[in-house]
Amino acid sequence: MTFLELAQARFSTRKYKDTPVEKEKLEKILSAGRIAPTAKNDQPQVIYAVTSTEGLEKLDKCTPCRFGAQAALIVCYDKTKSWKRPHDGKEHGDIDAAIVQTHMMLQAEELGLGTVWVCFYDPAAIITEFELPEDIVPSSILMVGYKAEDAQPSDRHSVRKPLEETVRFV
Ligand SMILES: Cc1cc2nc3c(=O)[nH]c(=O)nc-3n(C[C@H](O)[C@H](O)[C@H](O)COP(=O)(O)O)c2cc1C
Repeated sequence: MTFLELAQARFSTRKYKDTPVEKEKLEKILSAGRIAPTAKNDQPQVIYAVTSTEGLEKLDKCTPCRFGAQAALIVCYDKTKSWKRPHDGKEHGDIDAAIVQTHMMLQAEELGLGTVWVCFYDPAAIITEFELPEDIVPSSILMVGYKAEDAQPSDRHSVRKPLEETVRFV
């Protein structure tokens, strides 16, 4: 499978089987995140890998978007470690976290797992439920699990703007 075929095969999975995700597969996914580029290679990411029943129940208090996934990776960054651009102070933790999460999402796809990227969550609840230290900022959550037999892409999956609309050759 080429990279483009893999990227095209991925879709946001919103229905999962109860089957747990094997530790080896999660480790491979986390390893793919580890080798992601980050600004100045500062690697400010901190990932909470949620697989226990107790952890998943806590997560359900923070978001309605688990969709039955048996694993979730809460991708955070340490704001004391992320790069700030000297010109304007722009914080790069969210960008780094998103690249890490993208690597993990595509690795999960290659392993035959479904994922959905989730930003619809209550950050205050995440901080409380998972006892995040003060400097750790939640960025996004990646739900990971075995796709239900009847899991289907949403209508939005096939809607992509033409390149002419989003790219300017200059
Ligand atoms: C930054 C970001 C945040 C998202 N947040 C959510 C979310 O909270 N809940 C959800 O069901 N999907 C969420 N999605 C999934 C998008 O809705 C989905 O990627 C988009 O509609 C395209 O569909 P596809 O992933 O199937 O190609 C999010 C995706 C991104 C990249």
